[in-house]
Amino acid sequence: MASSVATLEDIPSVDIMTELLRRFKCNSKPDKRLILVGPPGSGKGTQSPIIKDDYCLCHLATGDMLRAAVAAETPLGIKAKEAMVKGELVSDDLVVGIIDEAMKKPSCEKGFILDGFPRTLVQAQKLDEMLEKQGVKIDKVLDFAIDDSILEERITDRWIHPSSGRSYHTKFAPPKVPGVDDVSGEPLIQRKDDTAEVLKSRLAAFHKQTEPVIDYYGKKGVLAHIHAEKTPNEVTAEVQKVLSS
Ligand code: AP5
Repeated sequence: MASSVATLEDIPSVDIMTELLRRFKCNSKPDKRLILVGPPGSGKGTQSPIIKDDYCLCHLATGDMLRAAVAAETPLGIKAKEAMVKGELVSDDLVVGIIDEAMKKPSCEKGFILDGFPRTLVQAQKLDEMLEKQGVKIDKVLDFAIDDSILEERITDRWIHPSSGRSYHTKFAPPKVPGVDDVSGEPLIQRKDDTAEVLKSRLAAFHKQTEPVIDYYGKKGVLAHIHAEKTPNEVTAEVQKVLSS
């Protein structure tokens, strides 16, 4: 107890005020449970932080979680690495386990954005089981629809800041200083699976294993199609319109 009080005293007043204001604003927001589905490079990771801030949700990106596990060489990371490098999907059991755990975080109290999950019908059914236990349902599934031919340029010129997940693009969303994160000043990196060659496998996995998931939610009446080939601002406007309707 004493140590947590001391920790709070060490936090600058401005940070405490900012957090209080954020919580106050969040109280007036409706709860939302969202899924973002789409092929690699369709813009899920670009739009998620904006939706997260608008609705005070937690952002659960299985790709980011798996990459963190690979980098930390945890048992999960060691199991996931081989499939990820080849652009194949990691086993359902591994990803279902990490999502089940992550959804219990206090930051998910007002709902969540699932980015990159579920990616198979088995994952979608397991998610339904988890939500049923909590007595809640998915509100909307945003389908980031885009032609494959646009994706190679988006993927091969993408740069990311690993610890925050912020992503940039040499042409479409350049950082202020090339190769450097705008916020932290730390170096940007390119993902190992962001090559034209690996993209082919990732797209094949999307069409074969993930497209049936889109149909699954279509039948449940919660699907909304987003024109993901538009500019980032236009996509944001479309997402906001869908979520406020
Ligand atoms: P994951 O990390 O989920 O990758 P992904 O689905 O392939 O998606 P990306 O992160 O590549 O694309 P994005 O849609 O977020 O695009 P972004 O916004 O960055 O998964 C990686 C791997 O992990 C998988 O292959 C698999 O092995 C494993 N995995 C993960 N989840 C799993 C699961 N559930 N089950 C099994 N395995 C799993 O945009 C891309 C670029 O384009 C950026 O540079 C951005 O600046 C730019 N951009 C974005 N929007 C626009 C726009 N509108 N116009 C122009 N440029 C734009």
